[in-house]
Amino acid sequence: MLVKINNLSKQFKGKKAVSNLSFTIQEGSCMALLGPNGAGKTTTLQMLARMLTPDSGSIQFNGYPNKDYRPLIGFLPQHPSFFNWMTAKEFLSFAGKLSSIPKSELNGRVEEVLTFVSLEEAMTKKIGGFSGGMKQRLGLAQALLHKPKLLILDEPVSALDPKGRRDFLQLIEVLKQNMTVLFSTHILHDAEQICDEVLILQDGCLKWKGALPSLRKEFDLLPIKVQTEEPMNGIIEQLEIIDAYEYIDLKTVKVRLPAHVHPNELLQELINRNRAVTHFEMMHDSLEDAYMKVVRQ
Ligand SMILES: Nc1ncnc2c1ncn2[C@@H]1O[C@H](COP(=O)(O)OP(=O)(O)OP(=O)(O)O)[C@@H](O)[C@H]1O
Ligand SMILES: [Mg+2]
Repeated sequence: MLVKINNLSKQFKGKKAVSNLSFTIQEGSCMALLGPNGAGKTTTLQMLARMLTPDSGSIQFNGYPNKDYRPLIGFLPQHPSFFNWMTAKEFLSFAGKLSSIPKSELNGRVEEVLTFVSLEEAMTKKIGGFSGGMKQRLGLAQALLHKPKLLILDEPVSALDPKGRRDFLQLIEVLKQNMTVLFSTHILHDAEQICDEVLILQDGCLKWKGALPSLRKEFDLLPIKVQTEEPMNGIIEQLEIIDAYEYIDLKTVKVRLPAHVHPNELLQELINRNRAVTHFEMMHDSLEDAYMKVVRQ
């Protein structure tokens, strides 16, 4: 375990933003903090990054006696701001001095992180001329500069276009191989692509935590959609390999199979019964359904 968060709460002008939040972050894990707008994601991450003081509760880094654990954390805020008149290199040198990186290492480290986020060619260009995606990558470079143990990213891809989003997620994919990552998003698909575990927040409360496959299981989803040319009623009911089903119409059914049954077996059973399969789909949006069920609870 890397961090233990215990009963964290924060309110603003009497309104609770985060209530009694407890969870642990395992060393080497990649965790997503999911939740709709206003759920309390930024408030939680800012408390973890020590930018906000909790009203109550504790945050403890395993084996780190110093209460100020900021050297262990890299943080990319939801809306990072920069000095537009600085170049990328000047900005990172400035940030590096603030986090006490030795002078002898600073230059090399700045070039290393700028290369990692593919900004080496823009190193000596003014930040004012950067696109949104470039600024976001510069923010990541700043968060990585002092080699943190825990990288905290607040909605790192929300403002990016599809390509920027994919590129940024790929960077996280590389980073998670040698550091612990916690990032927030309101897009389930982002979490699905790169993280091991999710925390779902709603109205400041933790609604669910665990690995995404267990979310699907727990919410009793029917992830396979089958359509045939002929009606399937009378057949689906008899198939012992099916765990659960729901008809959309007589020719379309949503099905769940037990873990040991391969979806091909369902196809085979239908073909054996002279049904012409016109559509067979493993539905990804079923996870989205589970997420919606959690946040509506
Ligand atoms: N500085 C503040 N002053 C007053 N209320 C605040 C402040 N910061 C957050 N809040 C309130 O706390 C609640 C949680 O906000 P927070 O920004 O943590 O949510 P979020 O999950 O990050 O939302 P988003 O997805 O929109 O970024 C909201 O109701 C918000 O209005
Ligand atoms: Mg936020």
